Amino acid sequence: MAIINSRTREKGKIIIDYDKCTSCGLCVAVCSDKSLEITDGRLHESANAVFGCFACGHCMAVCPYDAIKIEGREMSGKDLFTLPPSDRYASYDSLYALLSSRRSIRHFKDKNVEQEKIDKILEAASTAPMGIPPSDVQVVVLKGKETIRAFSEDFVGVLKKNKFIYSLLGSKIMKPFIGKEISELFNSFLNGLISSYISNMDQGENAVLYDTPLAISFQTTMYADPADAYIVATYAMIAAESLGLGSCMIGGVHPFIKKGAKKFKKKYGILERYSGGIIVIFGYPKYKYRRGVRRTFKDVKNLE
Ligand SMILES: Cc1cc2nc3c(=O)[nH]c(=O)nc-3n(C[C@H](O)[C@H](O)[C@H](O)COP(=O)(O)O)c2cc1C
Repeated sequence: MAIINSRTREKGKIIIDYDKCTSCGLCVAVCSDKSLEITDGRLHESANAVFGCFACGHCMAVCPYDAIKIEGREMSGKDLFTLPPSDRYASYDSLYALLSSRRSIRHFKDKNVEQEKIDKILEAASTAPMGIPPSDVQVVVLKGKETIRAFSEDFVGVLKKNKFIYSLLGSKIMKPFIGKEISELFNSFLNGLISSYISNMDQGENAVLYDTPLAISFQTTMYADPADAYIVATYAMIAAESLGLGSCMIGGVHPFIKKGAKKFKKKYGILERYSGGIIVIFGYPKYKYRRGVRRTFKDVKNLE
């Protein structure tokens, strides 16, 4: 049976051009599904595939002879493109310079992000790996300060409606059900965050999405690994940085709308049910940072 998600229920169809195939075996070597094998010097679809072709496209990307194509699962030979020359790849130094100078930007110039840059951000983000292809990440682009203000006000409306439930989540009686960490998080952070979202909005200040000119919400269907949304968001963030834009991940919306908030999600075209979601805001930074701040991990264990 094929691996299903919201976009497909079929296996990829493997099409081999025997006029071009030399049975070199590269496609067999890179196929993580064992969908291909060579017997008697001839490449063919294997009877021992793990799930059946899930259309990662590795075989057609690695083939030196353009002899294999995958059709189906939202993929076709037309999706192959020529890779940029290797002298255009970012070096570690240039990538590190970009990553280490990035800061979460929450103050923006009063300037819209051009559609060309939005397209580039999404083009780069679409190259992100996903648990199982095809990507089951839904993208909702919120353009312009007015749209983002309306989204944030509506979101704060959802918070106001559910405030009692959130205060209960931080309370002692719920601790055995939600666990020590979530309870502590509600008491030390989330209840304060909700209050600040509400009180700021009541005073006309948008502490949710900071009145940015562009926000993009990434969420995964219930079939997909929630990490897919976060990885795509991270790629988008890095792409934005390379285009001279500032950005900030906003994790403070989806946990509060994931369950319920049906009307809100419908209004903004967000999936009613999803496994993971995160918003990234983008815009031209108002302030310039002059120094980096070194970060550390909780710990790094080396096991040999
Ligand atoms: C998963 C995630 C969720 C975040 N959510 C928010 C948020 O809701 N609001 C906000 O202002 N910043 C948010 N941030 C930004 C962090 O606060 C920020 O990354 C952190 O303070 C470190 O600053 P830096 O990104 O400039 O290094 C989030 C970052 C991540 C990675």
